[in-house]
Amino acid sequence: MSLVTRLILVILVATTLLGVVMLFTYDIIKLEWVSFMEIQPSYKPMDKPLPVAANSIPIEGAAYIPGMGDPVNPVPADEISIERGRILYSVNCAMCHGPNGEGDGVVGGALINRPANLTGDVTQSKSDGTLFLTLSNGIEGKMPALNENLSVRDRWDLVNFMRTLEPTQP
Ligand code: HEC
Repeated sequence: MSLVTRLILVILVATTLLGVVMLFTYDIIKLEWVSFMEIQPSYKPMDKPLPVAANSIPIEGAAYIPGMGDPVNPVPADEISIERGRILYSVNCAMCHGPNGEGDGVVGGALINRPANLTGDVTQSKSDGTLFLTLSNGIEGKMPALNENLSVRDRWDLVNFMRTLEPTQP
């Protein structure tokens, strides 16, 4: 056997051995050599959203701190806020709670759990913060949580608008 053939043989044996060893480490040393966009932590529309990443801060600041009681309304109930609330209400709430908030929306009538009459004393006697939390978190099995669809500001505008609702019949 010539020297060159021997050398080639040694290299062949060595690489084969290395290859076998690498196969065993496959599960231990995770080399990510192929990557697909769809293989990543993500969720599809209407999937349960991923939990918020630890230590992250919402760009609008904390809306409320769990366990610290009802938040205080930071948005003054001026003309602009109420007008914004009126528009948001007609888009997001009127189908259930009705055009005047009396719980008689087109969709609301078809629900087993009738939407609340927002003009009534029961609702109006609650604090702004309580209403805000209701909009944000929804009511299990009755009303959807709207914190995903509406910004913090939107929700306070809605609270301010809700305060202007009055029963049409005394
Ligand atoms: C899918 C229909 C639906 C939509 C949309 C909806 N609600 Fe409701 N809402 C309900 C139902 C049902 C209840 C529960 C009534 C009950 O507890 O008996 C409720 C309860 C509430 C309450 C609690 C009343 C109280 O006295 O505690 C508030 C406040 C409220 N809704 C405001 C809103 C606002 C503002 C919007 C829009 C941003 C909205 N809701 C959208 C169906 C809806």
